[in-house]
Amino acid sequence: MTDEMRDALIEAARDAASRAYAPYSGFHVGAALLLRNGDVVTGANVENASYGLTLCAETAAIAKIANEGWIDQLVAVAIVGGRPDGDALLGSDPVNPCGRCRQILNEAAERSKADIAVHCASGDGAAVASYRLSELLPHSFGPKDLGLIAD
Ligand code: THU
Repeated sequence: MTDEMRDALIEAARDAASRAYAPYSGFHVGAALLLRNGDVVTGANVENASYGLTLCAETAAIAKIANEGWIDQLVAVAIVGGRPDGDALLGSDPVNPCGRCRQILNEAAERSKADIAVHCASGDGAAVASYRLSELLPHSFGPKDLGLIAD
């Protein structure tokens, strides 16, 4: 992926974060999924008065591609998060996917037969940390372990 493609994916995640429903934490997260055909599908966190039921941005985005039949088309994800300040997001540290989201991303990554790129950006845009999912979730358990991935 070129730097331009990475930056465009991060911007799509940033735009998605503006649609977060996060009245409890005040922390807005956006995720942008890049599909094999170049399409980008986004999601944002959806919080709940029963705090533990919160849906993360990555989970919301993965649900969208799964429901469209595209769970096997994922090649990369960008994640941006921070506290909103007008149109901007505050925060200087890259937002890394939580443990549950790593596992949920792994489902799509295995189905896509791709060690997907994970680009984590800070709210202020100044910091980006890029990984492969296998770095963030080593020794993963997934559909391959249940015999569901054909060669
Ligand atoms: N959050 C995400 O959307 N993705 C992550 O990977 C980390 C955390 C959300 C959940 C909650 O709404 C807010 O960030 C603060 O934890």
